[in-house]
Amino acid sequence: MKTYEFKNGTKAFRYGHPIETGAIVQSKIEKELKEELDILFEKGHAKISIKLLPNDMVYGFGGNLGGINRRGRLYESYCTDEPLHIEDKTKLYSAHNFFIISGKETKGYFIDFPSRIKYDVGYYNENYFNIEIYGEDFYIYIIEGKDAKEVSEKFLEIIGRSYIPPKWAFGYFQSRWGYKDREEVRKVYENFRKNDIPLEGIFLDLDYMENFKDFTISEERFSGFEDFVEDLKKDGLYLVPIIDAGVKAEEGYHVYEEGIAGDHFCKNEAGDPYEAVVWPGKVHFPDFMKEDTQLWFGSKYKILTDCGIEGFWNDMNEPAIFYEQKALDEAIQYAHEQKDENLDVFSYFKLKDNFINLANKDSYYKNFYHEIDGKTVSNDEVHNLYGYYMTKSANLGLSKLLKNKRFLLISRASSIGMHRYGGIWTGDNSSWWFHLEQNIKILPSLNMCGFFYIGGDTGGFGGNCNGELLTRWLQLSIFTPLLRNHSAIGSNNQEPYVFSKEVLKNTRNLIKARYSLIPYIYSEYMKAVNNYTLMFKPLSFEFKGTLVEEVEDQLLLGDQLMLAPVYRSNQRGRYVYFPEDMLEVSFLDRDMATTVRKKGIHYVEYGLEDLKFFIRKNSIIPYVKPSKNVKELDLTDLQLLAYVDDEAFYKLYDDDGKSYDFIEGKSYLTNIKIAKKAEDYKINIDNNNPYIKNINIKIIDSNNNINHKEI
Ligand code: GLC
Repeated sequence: MKTYEFKNGTKAFRYGHPIETGAIVQSKIEKELKEELDILFEKGHAKISIKLLPNDMVYGFGGNLGGINRRGRLYESYCTDEPLHIEDKTKLYSAHNFFIISGKETKGYFIDFPSRIKYDVGYYNENYFNIEIYGEDFYIYIIEGKDAKEVSEKFLEIIGRSYIPPKWAFGYFQSRWGYKDREEVRKVYENFRKNDIPLEGIFLDLDYMENFKDFTISEERFSGFEDFVEDLKKDGLYLVPIIDAGVKAEEGYHVYEEGIAGDHFCKNEAGDPYEAVVWPGKVHFPDFMKEDTQLWFGSKYKILTDCGIEGFWNDMNEPAIFYEQKALDEAIQYAHEQKDENLDVFSYFKLKDNFINLANKDSYYKNFYHEIDGKTVSNDEVHNLYGYYMTKSANLGLSKLLKNKRFLLISRASSIGMHRYGGIWTGDNSSWWFHLEQNIKILPSLNMCGFFYIGGDTGGFGGNCNGELLTRWLQLSIFTPLLRNHSAIGSNNQEPYVFSKEVLKNTRNLIKARYSLIPYIYSEYMKAVNNYTLMFKPLSFEFKGTLVEEVEDQLLLGDQLMLAPVYRSNQRGRYVYFPEDMLEVSFLDRDMATTVRKKGIHYVEYGLEDLKFFIRKNSIIPYVKPSKNVKELDLTDLQLLAYVDDEAFYKLYDDDGKSYDFIEGKSYLTNIKIAKKAEDYKINIDNNNPYIKNINIKIIDSNNNINHKEI
């Protein structure tokens, strides 16, 4: 074992000879340290058991199901195309092996290992946190801090700054698998404009491709693509096409031909390109572990950036496999053998399961190989790096192609480290209330693991959404950096205008509110990312007490807001726990009604026509007039909503939203201070944002007295 230490005190323990995943970027120095965990190495696996005290909370594990407090559940890190997010699933698309145990003592742990890890977080025995690592070569990082917030911030420092999208990526996006051609996409765009609903862009699913082939555009359905893209862009509308991991194995197809010629595909046991079946039929998987393959695949995005595209979503990169030919043949063979047999129940189940369980079998991932530093390594051994390195490849390519222009990039599969190259969406959720609830819980966990450009499929991907669910979901998603309404082919349409007039009115107002709040959301995003702090926090990261620890359906956004979305049907409000006095704001009410809420539990009415949030004492929220897209956002008249007890402060961050010039300090700051002085307020504003000309302030004190100021 080798041991190291980081500048911020994080300790690192190296066991064996781990594969370097690139998750950690900060440098560490060798230092002799005492081992802190008892690790049992057995049959090629490593087992760790940590005692849990009755009051210990467990946070982290990023994009998985379950609570903000992860205790009492089983988890597994093995990126999986899991279309059914139900209670007993232990793994989804991501492998985020960072967790914090917080109680009398608080410690964070990151297991840097690219294959399977299983966690039993006090599930079978409530007093133990048991971990099984499927290998013997890994790093374990241990982070100490005074509380979970400090620990997570130290972790963010060592894994490096998160990906930063352009400002337009904070707009509202419509998506649907099944917008079959250019005319349909245009119709969606026109419907948004006709109904006066802001729209930033439309995601293009598989339908735009020629037979599901990456980096092709269907001539029949999307002819004149470049003109189409440019035409929409004139009106500030972006198209964001999908790219899948698997490359169709088809002679004559340029990506396939180049991949073969350049030796870019993963190999099977015999050393030939490995073949599996995904959307296009038989595919090969690029070996993203090889640097020249990363550069090659990344350069292919040019075909679309040349058409004016500036945003992408990388999908099916766990990688998802529908089936291997051999497994399908075996299932068919067995079925033939059973024909005319008098099947007992077990044979019948086998017959049925042979077909049902064809997708994403564990065994497939042992059948193909990567080349890492000249060595052959099975996908199983580095499984969790595949989506990460595909997205790194895209990021490298796009950075070269678009130069100083930022781009939108999200991935489905991920592990820690990928957060520096792109954001993620939370995969194929369903139009279920339970999934709206899960969406609340996943946000702080993802931030803890470095992922900030995040959002779920608003309205739900699978299943049929209705107007009430979409409205409630939007009331949450209005605050998530990625705001995309996406649905699956075969489900009912769920654009805001397909429901009743009432739903249209409410969802339009919500999306407009999003645009009003973009200056605030963007500012909070950039500050969190640049300062290595969390954008979304559980209440227990700021407040103490049992009630705070048990709240699983409320969140803090930045240092200013508490959110408490309604996530059940037929409700006109909900109980909200206020850990301190806060100001309740009905943002969509014509008069923007406010109520001072005293510390404690209150039933808060929350209608479908509203957008509610709660401002913490001595906090200020900036907003502007809504616009139809980010390009037209106008900061000339900045509005401030301030809840002032004695002295409130806000630092509004802004920059050009397009380039990376902010790294050289080219950003705008507006420092606002409002202090209560006798019967009046003293306002200090230090502004270097040239776009802000007038500032209108609405100040509310702890008696709900309202004061207006103009500057
Ligand atoms: C996967 C993606 C989903 C997409 C579909 C078709 O299920 O998660 O978002 O719509 O594939 O491309």
